[in-house]
Amino acid sequence: MRIDSTLLPVRGNDAVEILENDHQVIKGLLNELVSASHSQRSTVIEKLVGVLTIHNATEENLVYPAINKVAGSKLESQHLYHETADADVALFELDSMLKEGDDSEFAAQAKKFQEAVLHHIDEEEQKAFQSLNENADAEHSKILAESVRQFRNALHFDTAS
Ligand SMILES: [Fe+2]
Ligand SMILES: [Fe+2]
Repeated sequence: MRIDSTLLPVRGNDAVEILENDHQVIKGLLNELVSASHSQRSTVIEKLVGVLTIHNATEENLVYPAINKVAGSKLESQHLYHETADADVALFELDSMLKEGDDSEFAAQAKKFQEAVLHHIDEEEQKAFQSLNENADAEHSKILAESVRQFRNALHFDTAS
């Protein structure tokens, strides 16, 4: 599978706007995931893996470091890295259930996954992005937005399956 930026187009005038627009796409896919019929699940999981890979790479490479340095919230940025790692494990487990053909726990786990990601998104939007907006000066914000655009345009992953 090839994951590239066309899966999640860049929309917005600054880094925070771009990430918040990503969040809307992610929330939509999470809704699809919890309401997906048995046979639709793997398609939705595949889309989620692609979109989250792109979104998380943007945050982990550019935006969390800025939250750490520019906004001076080292603990907040570390906390967000940890939550992202936990979500990666949860998504891997959901994917494994489908590949192993045992999805008796799928609906319950998908609901938990949705709640965890929604919590993470809320924390970013209400806390981390706020402090980035408050502490980054115009020059920093401009550089960060440009970096996010360049990163997204250049981004692609070739995955094993
Ligand atoms: Fe995040
Ligand atoms: Fe995010």
